[in-house]
Amino acid sequence: MEEQIYRLHPEIPQVPDSLFTTQVDEVKSIPNLFFPEFPLESPMRKYSVHDAPKEMYEWAQDHFRLNNLAVRYQIVRPGMRIHKDVNRAWCYNYLITSGNGETVWYEDDKTTVKKSVVIPEKTWHWINTSVFHTVRNIQEDRLAITIFEDHD
Ligand SMILES: [Fe+2]
Repeated sequence: MEEQIYRLHPEIPQVPDSLFTTQVDEVKSIPNLFFPEFPLESPMRKYSVHDAPKEMYEWAQDHFRLNNLAVRYQIVRPGMRIHKDVNRAWCYNYLITSGNGETVWYEDDKTTVKKSVVIPEKTWHWINTSVFHTVRNIQEDRLAITIFEDHD
């Protein structure tokens, strides 16, 4: 069976704009859950995760049949390295501001491109995060809503 990397889910409704903020600075004021001991404002930090509002959880519970649903904001900054996610094999994402980046997946050599896609804003999609990946060429912080099964 062919390995799944990326699927668009246009059948999942768009999130009402009133349920989330588009302001990166507002999201940064919510505690960061990804290596929280490492300073949020360090130039070395290329990724952070922040809990989503209760209203987003309620909306997500009506549209995703997942166990231990986690609903978070995530911020990707220019220069994120090629990696596999540590705590999840896949997720559903919804880009609020794409930063005009290109999401790229690689073979285990971290060099050979498996797949590359410019993901549209405000469209649900599923991505495989157990394959090496990064976001290339983002011009500014990329803000998204991310949904996954929390096994912690
Ligand atoms: Fe990732």
